[in-house]
Amino acid sequence: MKRDERWKGVYSFEDSPFIMEILTELRDEKTGPIAFRKGLVRLGRYMAYELTKTMDVEKVRVKTPLEETKGMIIKDRRNVVIITVLRAAIPLMEGLIKVLEHARVGIVSASRGKAPKFEIEMKYVKVPQVKAEDTVIVADPMIATGSTLIRVLDEVKRYGKPKRLVVLGVLAAPEGISRIKEAHPDVEIFVAAIDRELNEKGYILPGLGDAGDRAFGEPVRP
Ligand code: URA
Repeated sequence: MKRDERWKGVYSFEDSPFIMEILTELRDEKTGPIAFRKGLVRLGRYMAYELTKTMDVEKVRVKTPLEETKGMIIKDRRNVVIITVLRAAIPLMEGLIKVLEHARVGIVSASRGKAPKFEIEMKYVKVPQVKAEDTVIVADPMIATGSTLIRVLDEVKRYGKPKRLVVLGVLAAPEGISRIKEAHPDVEIFVAAIDRELNEKGYILPGLGDAGDRAFGEPVRP
């Protein structure tokens, strides 16, 4: 885990060869939907494992069949809420929950509304109560402009004040991180890697394309 000097509370996993290998497969245009979804699940699992290193632990005593000895539990792992931002976060959440198996899960949809306002519309919001001891993890693979996440974070904050509010993604553009940190300075951001920039259509460069389409196929309007 590497802290990015450009912001406070922003970390990437660019120093983890294993996470970088999974990311490389996701970036590859030849990777089809089955391998892409599997890659997102694996990233979720290993990023959650890395995240546990930042969690508070508690010393406990444990009795083996032979004698009593010292042990520990990760206290914060018992108090996690994962917010899944539809669609591409579904496989990422599946991976996260393998390590954070006690997590309560919220599901939200967020999409850009019509011109001229382009307001972010959240049509589906199912979020559990957030408690003071919770670590809330908002999972969204692609942090591009940051607009969707800012709106999701506004909404999540209505459900209670957690101990930690974390955004966990696969790739981020510097523009998106700056906008989120400006709107929500209290939020910690963890991503596999921080890419160069956004193109004129709001895609992350070099990126991996549209994560939702690559995982689930391109939607059409009948
Ligand atoms: N969403 C994606 O899926 N990809 C991008 O590059 C930006 C936003």
